[in-house]
Amino acid sequence: ETILNSVDNLVDNEKTYEQAVDILKSGGLVAFPTETVYGLGAVATDEQAVRKIFEAKGRPADNPLIVHIGRKSDMERFVAEVPEVAEQLIKAFWPGPLTLVMEKKPGVIAETVTAGMATVAIRMPDHPVALQLLKKLGLPLAAPSANRSGKPSPTEAEHVYHDLFGRIPLILDGGATGIGVESTVLDVTVTPPVILRPGGIVKEQLEALIGTVHLASKSEDETETPRAPGMKYTHYAPEAPLYVIESDASKLEDALDSIHRQGKRAAVIGPDELHTAKADWYFTTGALDSSEAMAAHLYKAIRQCDNTEADIILAIETDQAGIGAAVMNRLDKASDGKRYFE
Ligand code: TXA
Ligand code: MG
Repeated sequence: ETILNSVDNLVDNEKTYEQAVDILKSGGLVAFPTETVYGLGAVATDEQAVRKIFEAKGRPADNPLIVHIGRKSDMERFVAEVPEVAEQLIKAFWPGPLTLVMEKKPGVIAETVTAGMATVAIRMPDHPVALQLLKKLGLPLAAPSANRSGKPSPTEAEHVYHDLFGRIPLILDGGATGIGVESTVLDVTVTPPVILRPGGIVKEQLEALIGTVHLASKSEDETETPRAPGMKYTHYAPEAPLYVIESDASKLEDALDSIHRQGKRAAVIGPDELHTAKADWYFTTGALDSSEAMAAHLYKAIRQCDNTEADIILAIETDQAGIGAAVMNRLDKASDGKRYFE
């Protein structure tokens, strides 16, 4: 059975952390909140425990996991060489939603975590519950997003419960996560560094600090051996087909008319300002000009679409600037590149 324990505003937090640490130290899994999405943690040096993550999620074994640490200095145990640019980035952005891919020190982190690669992805999350858990545990946690493979990442404990009920013993409920899309994965083993997955720390922030940063091209992540192996799999997919549509009220209404003429029903994911009674369901992602709000609400909205009888989902696009790049990257995957045109 799966226990869901709240960790804010409770007097017995101490007991909950103890329980979580006990489970982890005996090779079990615990889901916990981070500032991006909920993670599903196992002790990263425990091969058997890490395997359970892949089982619980139904995750392909060739997709490596991120190692979460509670103190910057913990990194030195797992990384063979910390490039100078990594030092700068860590100083500026840790704790925070930036994952760094570096050369790993062999023999410390369980092989399954890195899926046999010579590199390891590491981040220090910026969430009081995650940090407290890591501090009390005193060991690194391998943790992918705590969803079933293929589903959107969980931004609320309830999403984890829905996906992993009966598959894991404990979920720490720290409320809704703040950022709502995953961390940026940055490969610093190459010059210039390459963004393998856009996320919470945006390209503009990275470039302001360290200069040019490349974005892994789509063709690159669709090759046989992509550098972020996870990017080749289906992701964030709702049950009904999802199409990205331009942010334009009259185009949206035309699309809905056309869908209705075909006897179909549509769920729309979009900003407050484009709300229309023509949509059979409308899930708002906040203010039109806020990519941050869209990031925070997107995954929940995609999940909500699965509770409707919609035949088709229209998701309204946002600007590529800032965290908009991460939002559009996820929508591209959720839609498998499909756009709605009249
Ligand atoms: O915000 C996040 O990063 C969340 C929270 C829980 O920390 N975690 C997360 O993990 O999104 P996951 O497993 O869903 O995504 C990890 C990504 C995958 O695309 C994986 O392929 C990539 O990081 N990755 C992990 N290790 C790597 C490595 N050594 N080299 C390249 N990519 C790596
Ligand atoms: Mg994931």
